[in-house]
This record gives sequence, C-alpha cells and structure tokens, in this order.
Amino acid sequence: MPIERLRSLFARRALAALGLLLTAAAAAAQPALLTGTAWYPEQWPQSRWPRDLALMQAAHLDVVRVGEFAWSTMEPSEGVYDFTWLDRAIAEAARHHIYVVIGTPTAAPPAWLTSKYPDTLRVDEDGTRAEHGNRQQFSFSSPRYRELARQLVTRLAQRYGHNPDVIGWQIDNEIGPASFDAETRRQFHAWLQRKYGTVASLNRHWTTAYWSETYDSFDEVPMHSKDENPGLLLDFKRFVTDTWTSYVANQVAALRAHADPRQFITTNTTHWSGEYDQYVLSRELDMASWDEYVPDGHLVWLDQAVQHDLVRGYKNEDFWLMETQPAFVNWSPVNSALPPYAMRELAWQAVGHGANAVLYWQWRSALNGQEQYHGTLLGADGTPVPAYGVVQGIAADMARAAPALAGTSPHSVVAMLQSYDSRWAIDFQRQQADFDVVKEFDAFYAPLEHYAQSVDVVSPDAPLTGYRLVVAPALNVLSAAQARHLADYVRAGGHLVLGPRSGMKDAYDALWPQRQPGPLVALLGGRVEQYYALDASVPVAGVLGSGEATVWAEALSARDPATQVLMRYGKSNGWLDGRPAVISRTVGKGTITYIGAWLDPALMQNVLDDSLRAAHVGPLVPGVSADIEVCQRVGAGKRVWILINHGDNEHTIRLPSRATPVLSGEPGVSTATVTLAPHSIHVLESPL
Ligand code: GAL
Repeated sequence: MPIERLRSLFARRALAALGLLLTAAAAAAQPALLTGTAWYPEQWPQSRWPRDLALMQAAHLDVVRVGEFAWSTMEPSEGVYDFTWLDRAIAEAARHHIYVVIGTPTAAPPAWLTSKYPDTLRVDEDGTRAEHGNRQQFSFSSPRYRELARQLVTRLAQRYGHNPDVIGWQIDNEIGPASFDAETRRQFHAWLQRKYGTVASLNRHWTTAYWSETYDSFDEVPMHSKDENPGLLLDFKRFVTDTWTSYVANQVAALRAHADPRQFITTNTTHWSGEYDQYVLSRELDMASWDEYVPDGHLVWLDQAVQHDLVRGYKNEDFWLMETQPAFVNWSPVNSALPPYAMRELAWQAVGHGANAVLYWQWRSALNGQEQYHGTLLGADGTPVPAYGVVQGIAADMARAAPALAGTSPHSVVAMLQSYDSRWAIDFQRQQADFDVVKEFDAFYAPLEHYAQSVDVVSPDAPLTGYRLVVAPALNVLSAAQARHLADYVRAGGHLVLGPRSGMKDAYDALWPQRQPGPLVALLGGRVEQYYALDASVPVAGVLGSGEATVWAEALSARDPATQVLMRYGKSNGWLDGRPAVISRTVGKGTITYIGAWLDPALMQNVLDDSLRAAHVGPLVPGVSADIEVCQRVGAGKRVWILINHGDNEHTIRLPSRATPVLSGEPGVSTATVTLAPHSIHVLESPL
C-alpha cells in the first residue's frame, strides 16, 4: 500500500476512534435526569442567543429542543439549505453546557412548498383543503411530501448525526390528523386489498349484505371516520396508524442512515392521543415522549398519573416529558395558572412515573404568532417571569436527585390493558353518550393506583408474565389470539378482571356470536345476558359491599357451578333486578372476574381491593393518605421513593425500610419516617 494511502487510512481510523471517544464522553456525562425547554432561536437575532442560554444555564437547565417548525429557515427555497444558524445555536448551547434535541421541522412546511406542490396539502373529511398560515397542513400520505421531508432530514442527520452535543431527535410534532385527499383514498384501497386479498373476504368480515353495502371492487369502498360500517371504521383507524407509522419510519430511516445510535429518536405525543395506535408506531422509535398540559390549571393527580403510565407502556420503558406548561396555556376557555406548588408536583410526578427529562414549553413567546399568550419562562422583554424561578428550583432539585435516579425505573405487578381497537369501537357506537372510554379507564385506574401505588398500562398483546393482576376495563374488541393470551395467563395462575363491554367484538369489529365476553365465556363459566345503557343509577350489593352503577350495566349469568356471583343489582329497570353484576371463577391458581357495570368509586375500590388481595398485591408504602402519591423506581441495586403530598395537610409517613433523603437532610443520614408538609415532595433512596 502506498505510504500516502496508509497515512490517510490511519488518520481516518484515528479520527473515527476520537469521534467514538468524544461520543462516549458526551453520553457518560449526560445526567440521568434532565430539565430543559423548547427554544426557537430562529425567531430571535443571533446576538440575543448568548443571553438566553446564560439565563437557561442559571436556571440549571440541561437541554434545549430546537428546530421543530423551522423548515422555512432551514430551507428558504427549494433545495437551498441554510444550517449555519443551527450550527451556531448548537455550538452556543454547548458553550453553556446545554445539550440539544433537534426536532425535524415537518409539522410546518414552508409556503414555497405548499404553493408549488398543493397536492401535499391535507384535506379535511368535509373536503376542505388546508392552507398555509397554520401548522400540520400537510397530508400524511403524500409521497411528494415524504420525499421532500426525507431530503431535509437526511441533510440534518448528515450534519448533526455525529455532533456530541446533539443527544436526540424528535420527529415532527404531535402527529395525528388524517387527510381525506384522493391519494390517501387510493392508498386506503390498496391497504384493504393487501389485508383482505379478495373483496369477497372484506364483504364477509364487514357483513356488507347489511344495507346493500356489498362491494364489487376495493375502489368502491368509501373512506370515512364516522357514521359508517364499524368494520370499515376500525380498518380506517388501522390504516391511519400504518400511514403515520410509515410517515415516521421514512424520517427514522433518513436519521438512522447517518446518525450515531446514541442519539435517540422519538416523536412527541399528546394527551391520551387516540388518533393512531401508539403501540404500533412506537416500534419505530427508540423512546416514547409526550406533552403534558393541564389546561384549566387544576392538577388532579390521578388524571395525570394514568397518562404517564400509558406513555411508559408504549415501549414498556422510561420516557421523556417533552413539553409541559410554565404555569398556563393559551388554548383552553379559561387559561388559569397551575399554582407554583402544582408545577413542582407535576414535574416530580412525571419522574416518579418514569420520565427521565422534563422540558418546559416554551422559553419565550415569539413577538408575533398564534401563541403570544402562552406561559413562558421569559417575558416579551427577555427577562424572567415568575415561572422562571419555579422552574429554576425544580431543575436544581432534579440535578441533585439525578445520581440517585440513575439506572432506576418504575415496575409494577399490576397491569391495565389499554386497547386502541376497543377505544375506537366503543367511540364509534357509544350507546350511552356518557360512556367515555378514557373516563371509564380512569374509574378502574384510580382504585388500583390508590391501593397498589403503581400500575403499568400496556397493550392487550403485551407479555403478561410477572403480573399478579391484569385488569381490562372495557376490552370491547377481543381477537381470538388475545383471548388465548388472556386465557393462558389465567391458566398459569394469573388474576384477570374484565370490565363492562369486554369481549363483545372480534378483530373485524363484528359481534362475537357467543355474546360477551366472546371467546372467554367458557373460561368465565358465565356471560352477559343483556347490556343496558342507564339514565338513572342502579343499586348494586353483595359480598363486596353496596353502592350503585351508573351509565352502563350488564345482566350477567353464572352458568358453571364453579362460577360465583359476588354482586347483584337491586331493584331497577326490571331487566336488571336481582341479576348478577359481578361474577368470578377460580381456574387452578388463577381467577377470571367479570364486572358488568360502571360502579361508583367506593364500590369499585372495594371490588378491586378484593382482586388485589386475592392476587397478593400490597401497597408499596402502607397506610398513607389519599393525598399522598407514592412513586417507586428501582434498579442499579437501589430503590428510590418519590413521595408527593398533593394535599393541604401535613402527613408523617413510616417507610417500609430506612432510606436516605436525597433533596434535603444531612447527606448520608437515613430515616425511618418522613414528614411531608402540604404540597411538598420527598425523594428517598435505599439499597435494594
Ligand atoms: C403543544 C405543541 C406545542 C405548543 C403547545 C402549547 O401541543 O406541541 O408546539 O403549541 O402545545 O400548549
């Protein structure tokens, strides 16, 4: 080999090794718990940036998310790219010891793009084509839009994929709205053809003999998101899931081709987001993340806790809180502010449930633009507003707690099954307008979380080994494979609780001919004889106490001698009077229980407490008040408790074992009790 080539080969190898070393150093230095903010440097003169970053550093922030929505600054005209400003912003952030997450800017295409290529614009279900001037105006299925996005994201990845200060990527922003344009319809038909093979198969599964819906070709199938055949509606949602998944995969591929694997790839999701199936889409990502807002400013801790558990379940891993509000938002009827103490509770709760980063949206409002009124950390004058001080305190505490939290995550022995198919299927045909699937889920979550202080929320397809209790509040769509999965769990000694409306539909959203719970009728040794939408409450009583059912009640029957009736309805509409409301059957060491009604909170607590006890589940920290949230993260040979007092009274808690306070107290001195002042937080660490 000529000496020149040898030299250059050596130089390249040495550079690569140095690059790896730098990368490893950057990753090693990254704290286990980060705080940060969304920063939009393109909205401000570069001369201002050092001041912004110095203020972030003074607030102990570790990370900024930049770039999302900045397409027109990155590519001012087609094929003309300008990343010099982003180079500078990242370098300036690094100078202030602040890491960077780059958001791909595809939620906000530039005006030149949509003017030149109007076929990339999203079309609403009523046929209205979106216009420039807002965001999310693109069609998720547009091949042209995806190609333009791929080109831009490739350049970003080439430029920043090895940058040690860039720790991750966020694809787009809160994806969700479908498009109803001609290209999407074409793709829907192709999707149906791939799924069913023949139109005869589609006709059979959708029972299209009903109302002469029979199709002769896939092209005849309409595309709707409501008021249609339930089989079509459910398939449309799955098509939307697959289309968003391939939309995201397109950008993931562009990033993975050039970026270091240490840079995570995520996309930020919204409140309970049900526009597509998160479990399916999350397979493309390295990490889940979500944007938590409390629009009315009133933190109801259980309502928020369940959403963290939901997001943790997308990948069964820790996640990031990519956005949350500095005090208030700008998009609710009354945008009242979270009190400072609630901002602290919200942030620590996120960490307690598995967040490894908390980022505030946003740093400073653009002087113009749709979100001028939103809560920020700086005012229009570029100096801190009151929320800055609160975030500074939170960030300082989180920096202190980061070493203790390193390597830990929440783990539960109780799982709730959350099924998008079931949520959608009930929403298509609520039958009782108040049957809000999320509220019903919350009605089951609250007692479980109160008692067990830790709940995993997972897909019905997730592995269930290791869970002592599995609760499916309204598993309306239950495929044959899912039914086998649940039956196997029970036969292996698991305790399964099904809630009302479970096991009614098959995977095509067609009724199971066995009635509810469909393929689990034999295992349960009982079934739903008839369901009733309620406009008045119905008394319920039995061995687990008494109370009432509202919204929905199913008259059950126990057909197997081994199936016990635990609760019955009292006198009500004549149909329910005296009929079983809760039944249960022991199967080897396991049990299967069916709760046929939406029970009041106290009765729901009794019924689920009984299941929890039968499954040998106990509280993590016994004897605490309902205002105290107990979170536990374990790993790396330690247990970390995050105790949050959401109430107005002081409480003293006896810990199950001695632990060392992380945020306060004398370093290294352990304690057996903790006194929580109103709205205070304690983080304690103990060896496992
Ligand atoms: C989020 C969005 C942000 C910002 C924020 C305001 O949903 O991702 O870009 O608009 O809302 O609350």
